[in-house]
Amino acid sequence: MTIPASALHDAAERFGTPLYVYDAAELDAALARVRAAFGTARVYYAMKANPNLTLLRRLHGAGVGFECVSPGELARAEAVGASGERILVNGPAKSETEYSAGGRLGATFIVDRAEEVALLPPHSRALVRVNPALAVSTHDHLATGAVGSKFGVTLAQAPRVLAALRDAGHTALGLHVHIGSAIRDAHDFTAAFGRLTELRAQTGPLAVLDAGGGWGLDADLGGIAREARAAASAFGAALWVEPGRYLVARAGTLLTRVVGTKRTGGTFCLVDAGMTELLRPMLYGALHPVTPLWDGGETGVWDIAGPACESGDLLARGVSLPQPRRGELLAIGEAGAYGAAMSSTYLTRSRPAEALYQAGGENGADWTLIRRRETPQDVWAAET
Ligand code: LLP
Repeated sequence: MTIPASALHDAAERFGTPLYVYDAAELDAALARVRAAFGTARVYYAMKANPNLTLLRRLHGAGVGFECVSPGELARAEAVGASGERILVNGPAKSETEYSAGGRLGATFIVDRAEEVALLPPHSRALVRVNPALAVSTHDHLATGAVGSKFGVTLAQAPRVLAALRDAGHTALGLHVHIGSAIRDAHDFTAAFGRLTELRAQTGPLAVLDAGGGWGLDADLGGIAREARAAASAFGAALWVEPGRYLVARAGTLLTRVVGTKRTGGTFCLVDAGMTELLRPMLYGALHPVTPLWDGGETGVWDIAGPACESGDLLARGVSLPQPRRGELLAIGEAGAYGAAMSSTYLTRSRPAEALYQAGGENGADWTLIRRRETPQDVWAAET
């Protein structure tokens, strides 16, 4: 994140807190890193990471497609003008709406179980998701390729599902694998792609290998890309990838203001954001870097606690900070992925505003509001 502290203060002043801010330069840089590593691979952004329409439009403009897992995500892809070629319809339990919308748009389906062959619209293009049955280096909730996970078909079933697709008049493009999210060790991908490659003798050449996403922010991207490209070429296939976190996480920061401090059995810096704005620390024990935007004062060690009436509502533990004062700003980093996207209206809290930073951007303004803060009326609007 390269947004100057003065600009962060301006944004908090203008749009209020809690506030998600995104650095356009870092978004572009992340996509450039992906393209440098993966060469000509087609990129389908997993929009679950951050579905803000402004970010989607930016990625669409750069030639990126979208991986969608709900009717709403498909509607977003359509709203930003993505064509069927640029849309993947994925999910372990797709609804009728997803089959019909995907069919209407001419999207590619990712088949997650054999029964889906009969549910696809006629003459669909499809990939078969394979579960390589591997333990991987991430939180249990984020692993999707382990034995017993609900995702994909087994290695043994995959060639039969490809054949069933062809028999049913669909275009069986190839195989798909996604072993989980925030994976730290690139060797996990080597192992997964290796297992898929063993199917080559049974499947014959394929048009597409979709290597999924899941790349941890500090994982060896070059290494993952090399292995993915090798696996695709073993099938004579074009490589597709589906990064979510990698494209948006580092561009995003959650700005929150200090509400006060409290020393009881613990030492708390109370802030105006919590589990409703950023659930990842509570849900996965995720560690997000915390940067105080003030100087001076004696340094102490603080737990950063939110406003919710739940003990688990902590954004970070044991953070070293200069003495917090009411009204000062904290920046919670690497929050662009699964931050705003997973924010909730629990406690009738309004979901936060989002702003995009682009120094001297359109109209010469550095900041663009890309989602206004919800009001309580927005939160209860659907209630009768
Ligand atoms: N492709 C498929 C089929 C996926 O299920 C996912 C993420 C992705 C691509 C993108 O994965 P990424 O590159 O972002 O790791 N809420 C969790 C993350 C859940 C990811 C679910 N699937 C979190 O906050 O870490």
